[in-house]
Amino acid sequence: MNVLILGSGGREHAFAWKIAKSSSCNNLFIAPGNPGTAEVGSNIEIGVNDFESIKKFVLSEGIEMVVVGPEDPLVNGIYDFFQEDEELQNISLIGPSKEGARLEGSKEFAKEFMIRHEIPTAKYKAFTKDNLEEGYAFLESLDAPYVLKADGLAAGKGVLILDNLQGAKDELKAMVDDAKFGNASSTVVIEEFLSGIELSVFVLTDGDSYKILPSAKDYKRIGEGDTGLNTGGMGAISPVPFADRFYIEKVEREIVKPTVEGLKKDGITYKGFIFIGLINVKGQPKVIEYNVRMGDPETEVVIPRIKSDLLNLLKGIDDGTFSEKDLNINEQAATTVMLVSGGYPETYEKGKAISGTEDIKESIVFHAGTKNENEQLRTSGGRVIALTSFGENIEEALTKSFASAEKISFKGKYYRKDIGFDL
Ligand code: AMP
Ligand code: GLY
Repeated sequence: MNVLILGSGGREHAFAWKIAKSSSCNNLFIAPGNPGTAEVGSNIEIGVNDFESIKKFVLSEGIEMVVVGPEDPLVNGIYDFFQEDEELQNISLIGPSKEGARLEGSKEFAKEFMIRHEIPTAKYKAFTKDNLEEGYAFLESLDAPYVLKADGLAAGKGVLILDNLQGAKDELKAMVDDAKFGNASSTVVIEEFLSGIELSVFVLTDGDSYKILPSAKDYKRIGEGDTGLNTGGMGAISPVPFADRFYIEKVEREIVKPTVEGLKKDGITYKGFIFIGLINVKGQPKVIEYNVRMGDPETEVVIPRIKSDLLNLLKGIDDGTFSEKDLNINEQAATTVMLVSGGYPETYEKGKAISGTEDIKESIVFHAGTKNENEQLRTSGGRVIALTSFGENIEEALTKSFASAEKISFKGKYYRKDIGFDL
């Protein structure tokens, strides 16, 4: 099978690394990819939202499956673009339809979906500039801290958590009235603050049946002890100790099943990954967000733990055999530690020479933000390299990831030395 993966981060490197191992993988391409994906496939210079160029490439190279990494092309309707095109219709595209992608593309849509299908989530109301006064009144009815979410995609920055009421009112106004996040915040969801440990649950579905992939925990804050600004993710672990078999069964019953059935009832086509972000509130899982893709860096621990042939599983999504396929998971723990550029998630410099990757023996090196320049590997993003390791337990895996982190050098390198500290 000829496969095209869309995206260029650590998540896509992990997908490419896994799919390249499949006996049914013939040619593997990644658009636009990174130096890591180039080690296991061929990178092509096409942007993930350039549907026309993707079409040309798919047809000229005889691509039979497209795996979409990031949310953007999904929210922009790449699934529908393929379905509506006679020449592309029969090509398998792993990802939801445009309507399905609204689970991530619109917080209000996701909230309405959860309420409609009785999926546990935080109490909420949505506001625009036309009912700003009601928004203030709703804030007054809640206790601090206050959670404000821009309805649309805001590059991961659209959620604000504020400790004081006046601050929350000011931010609400800035979002709906002064377009703080552009169009994305013309509607704002205000919701009840949930207190507890977060968990990321991943589901792969053909729209009918589903499989629950290993769960993971992501460390989003830049600083140790979960302090400082939010990032794309500084590290991840899998499995998550509190999310044992009984807990995951509860998540399946109360969240996963109603989600897949809800999509079906609503007539929404969904053939791909669902990433359910939840908070464990005193043993009760509640959904804080849906994403319509895999997480990054969660993918860097979830995918390596899958023993089954991923391409074979994905093939089943389109040919009607998905429910018959086995999903075998490695019982070992996996951890990943993200090396980032100094200054990230605020301004940082790029182009720093990276050395030491060839010395890493105990971890898998997943490239996130790197580029090759005259044979020299350099930084090209905030998140640079994810180091994934296995162990009998999380501690053992982390020891390897941290040791590998020390062996790689670039100017300004930073990583959190306390991933997994809270478990
Ligand atoms: P998101 O951008 O939706 O992933 O949200 C960013 C972060 O905000 C999440 O990872 C949570 O830590 C936090 N968050 C979102 N919703 C809530 C909530 N209702 N209560 C507490 N924390 C939340
Ligand atoms: N690691 C969080 C995300 O991918 O959204």
